[in-house]
Amino acid sequence: MTPNQNLKAAREELILKSRPFSKVECDFGASKGKFLSESASLNPTVFFAGIEGISDRVKRGNKKIERLGIPNAALWRGWGKESLDELIPDGFLDTLHVSFPDPWPKRRHWFRRLVNVSFLEVAVTKLKPDGVLRLQTDHLGYFAAMKEQLLLHGGWLETSWEDELQRPVTEFETIFRAKGDPIGRIAVKRC
Ligand SMILES: C[S@@+](CC[C@H](N)C(=O)[O-])C[C@H]1O[C@@H](n2cnc3c(N)ncnc32)[C@H](O)[C@@H]1O
Repeated sequence: MTPNQNLKAAREELILKSRPFSKVECDFGASKGKFLSESASLNPTVFFAGIEGISDRVKRGNKKIERLGIPNAALWRGWGKESLDELIPDGFLDTLHVSFPDPWPKRRHWFRRLVNVSFLEVAVTKLKPDGVLRLQTDHLGYFAAMKEQLLLHGGWLETSWEDELQRPVTEFETIFRAKGDPIGRIAVKRC
């Protein structure tokens, strides 16, 4: 795994790029940025920042964003909650998306799952006071675990999944929908 790019420098870039826009959202584990670029086109007053662990996906996503001339989206290469912490200033995000994170279905691998109390501890510092965390997964066991972790961390209140923005389907959602897999989704904010 290549080390995280210098995300503290990238943070300055994010602040500059997002300044003209009224809201900022982050898609964590953004893959090649399908959800990011489509969200940006559908919601031109919002800036969409993506974090993705695999460099090639980041490069492909940013190339597409550049080719399409989308001013309100960009991807950065980063791994784990540390990258969220380094890239995103505190109290900066209106919304944080985690869509279809790797489910690590075997019990002995559960420690690798992204959404846990220590991820939530970082997430809460990055959200504005009324910011929303949106989680979705096709793995219902992981979905139950996500809800347990939210309870364990505490102070989260479920809110409506539908909001005022247009929400395209993600790359992996398309695959799971085609297979007819059930999808667990929850939007929460601080209470
Ligand atoms: C199953 S894919 C889902 C992609 C996208 N969110 C979607 O819904 O189409 C998970 C993505 O998260 C990235 N990823 C997994 N663990 C990560 C981590 N700890 N830090 C950053 N990216 C991660 C993977 O490289 C992959 O692109």
